[in-house]
Amino acid sequence: MTDPRGGGLPALSAPTIRVRHLWHFYGAREVLRDVSFDVGPGEIFGFIGPNGAGKTTTIRIMATLLEPLAGRVEVDRHDVAIDPDKVRRVIGYMPDHAGVYEGLTVREYLEFFADAFTVQNIGVVDAVIELTELTNLQDRLVPALSKGMKQRLQLARILLHDPKVLILDEPASDLDPRARIEMRDLLLELRELGKTIFLSSHILTELSDVCTSVGILERGRLLVAGPIREIAAELDARTRAAVTEAVPPPMAALGQTTPDTPADSRLEPAPAPLPTAPFPVPDGQAPPLVFGGGGFTAPTTTTGGASIPAATRKRLKLRVLGTSEPVVPLLAGGGGVLSVEAAPNGHLSLEYVGDDRFVAEVVRHLVAHGVGVVAVEPERNELERIFLEITRGELQ
Ligand SMILES: Nc1ncnc2c1ncn2[C@@H]1O[C@H](COP(=O)(O)OP(=O)(O)OP(=O)(O)O)[C@@H](O)[C@H]1O
Ligand SMILES: [Mg+2]
Repeated sequence: MTDPRGGGLPALSAPTIRVRHLWHFYGAREVLRDVSFDVGPGEIFGFIGPNGAGKTTTIRIMATLLEPLAGRVEVDRHDVAIDPDKVRRVIGYMPDHAGVYEGLTVREYLEFFADAFTVQNIGVVDAVIELTELTNLQDRLVPALSKGMKQRLQLARILLHDPKVLILDEPASDLDPRARIEMRDLLLELRELGKTIFLSSHILTELSDVCTSVGILERGRLLVAGPIREIAAELDARTRAAVTEAVPPPMAALGQTTPDTPADSRLEPAPAPLPTAPFPVPDGQAPPLVFGGGGFTAPTTTTGGASIPAATRKRLKLRVLGTSEPVVPLLAGGGGVLSVEAAPNGHLSLEYVGDDRFVAEVVRHLVAHGVGVVAVEPERNELERIFLEITRGELQ
């Protein structure tokens, strides 16, 4: 690939995995429909989707075990259909369910595969055992390992030929919470070693702090792909537009740009408008929108009738000094606030639409009104939120 700016030099950031217009069928059943995405060098790319979405099919095509019926897949610039041998040399592929051989110890198993991969340096087995922390298990029989240990052994196996790209189908399935954390740390370590990692998973919360980018697949279609932050920002912008329509802007907008702001002030890029705005003071110049059963509830539809997607509503848990009931009117009616509920022991639950600046504004506002804020805890994992918002829960 050449630099699109010309000059014929190789582009510095040519994607390590490039998928273009990929289709696949099993018989007459369409399983992948025009899937295109890139994975850049050094990324940890999470491929997420419900059961049957087509993740394993895509992965098997990347791993040269299935031929694409239409479209192109390149790994490290080698086309999987034209140069499968070259692709196999640069990838380490861990299937979702790998068999392990009976009667071999961990070390013997790895030495066997090192031979099969014609790995010359016998020190590699030691290095891989150390890296995957299998030292204490190296003399155990493979069938006697737990599922998590077997998964770790599979990862060790695919590292033997020092591949540039790791393709892992559900590497964290069957793992207990501790083993998942260890797997996550290992993936981060492998990334530090320069590997590009493509992995599929259902376990959203585990992935969000390890993945640099994600792709979400549903019913064979790629719904979105890119860095998590960019996707989240895009969703927030969409939601903000829906909410701006649904929730009238508060009257007294402290520190907000007004429509009268002189044109000059636009020389500096203004921050994106917040769905939040200053919260009403207790005597309530900005009346709550709709009152109901204990807290207040903002409309769930826009004035145009479009609903505010449930998954874009976020929750924030707060704990304040003293009781939480007097704090409710400080928050209710604030721009972006959908509902506020007081709970015992100073706990509050706030449903809102907005980004991190909303949370910062809530804290600032409460502190300014003399409330002692003890804890602030966003409730929904960002990747989970994206997933819920983007997918429709359809299985194929
Ligand atoms: N060998 C096969 N023959 C026929 N249909 C298949 C075959 N393998 C998979 N499918 C079908 O293709 C679709 C995609 O399957 P795939 O295994 O790629 O999904 P997945 O996203 O990996 O799902 P999971 O999360 O359950 O692993 C499913 O509808 C599945 O039933
Ligand atoms: Mg699968």
